[in-house]
Amino acid sequence: MKTSTSVLALATLASALPSRVNKRACDTAVKLSGSENVFKSYTLHANSFYKAEVQAAVGKLTDQSLATAAAKVGDVGSFLWLDTIANIEKLRTELATDIPCKNVLGLVIYDLPGRDCAAKASNGELAVGELPKYKSEYIDVIAGILKEHPNQAFALIIEPDSLPNLVTNINLQTCQQSKQGYEDGVAYALKTLNLPNVVMYVDAGHGGWLGWNDNLKPGAEELAKVYKAAGSPSQVRGISTNIAGWNAFDLTPGEFSGTSDAQYNKAQNEKLYVQLFGDALKTAGHPNHAIVDTGRNAVTGLREAWGNWCNVNGAGFGVRPTSDTGDERVDAFVWGKPGGESDGTSDTSATRYDSFCGKPDAFKPSPEAGEWNQAYFEMLLKNSKPAF
Ligand code: GLC
Repeated sequence: MKTSTSVLALATLASALPSRVNKRACDTAVKLSGSENVFKSYTLHANSFYKAEVQAAVGKLTDQSLATAAAKVGDVGSFLWLDTIANIEKLRTELATDIPCKNVLGLVIYDLPGRDCAAKASNGELAVGELPKYKSEYIDVIAGILKEHPNQAFALIIEPDSLPNLVTNINLQTCQQSKQGYEDGVAYALKTLNLPNVVMYVDAGHGGWLGWNDNLKPGAEELAKVYKAAGSPSQVRGISTNIAGWNAFDLTPGEFSGTSDAQYNKAQNEKLYVQLFGDALKTAGHPNHAIVDTGRNAVTGLREAWGNWCNVNGAGFGVRPTSDTGDERVDAFVWGKPGGESDGTSDTSATRYDSFCGKPDAFKPSPEAGEWNQAYFEMLLKNSKPAF
């Protein structure tokens, strides 16, 4: 009896204590808007999760100069993936650290029902039909946390691959089944996360996906439809491209411009893609600034086909996050995919094995999507441009 009383007393005390305060936080509310480039005044935050993964990787290196270089990777700003309901805890943990006032915390919103409908590697925890759960246990909870931190700036990437899949993979039964949940889910996310301290970028795949002549208009219209269904939220700034991708930003001629079907795609690099798709977005009535993932795009000429997306062998870390892009439409180069985390398992017996992860140009062995791959990380580091 005595014990249970004191436990209760302790619990009451704990809940009455204010949560830990960020010592370097801004002391006034952050006011962002979709009409400004947040990356001009804020630095993409180097989150503690990626830092810890990198630190663990450094500990495994025996080569001293490689270890010194590797340690620097942990200081690169990157997006934190909230890929399950349980992983929302990562956001709380991160917010209890001392994030400098002028840092923007990048988050990837990634838990739609029936996720990754055209592939297997990143199939998610929520089944088709679990939209109510996505809303109440995922989006609402994240929105609540962001509201509790009005002095902190956030940049969100909204649901990688989801709307692009509805444009080009709707022949698949899985994507047909996911369609309603994706459209309603993304609209709900945009509406609910439309907060003064937040800017949002809706994922638009990459140039080798919606960049095909025939995909530009339907792609832009799909994004615009969902954006309008959300009530054209003020904090939507535009799109994210090349997330977890491999395309070069402005390589000319583009990596795949020599292929027989190149005439049907003018978006031969991401810069061109942002221009072309951005024009289509404007026509369709959707904001068209962009952030582009340069985390793993240092080396080109590795993929046998443009659509090969899994753990590309020979890749290297690319340009570090910066708003210095030389292109008004491109707000920033960012690290979207945390380099070193796998895109999917190469174990052919795994439930989430996708044949793309078994292709000749895919690195093997590779663990489950999101898991750390030490050998892959070391390869990215050795091949990085600029070097660390
Ligand atoms: C993949 C995984 C996801 C992980 C992300 C970043 O999409 O499915 O779990 O968080 O990559 O590595």
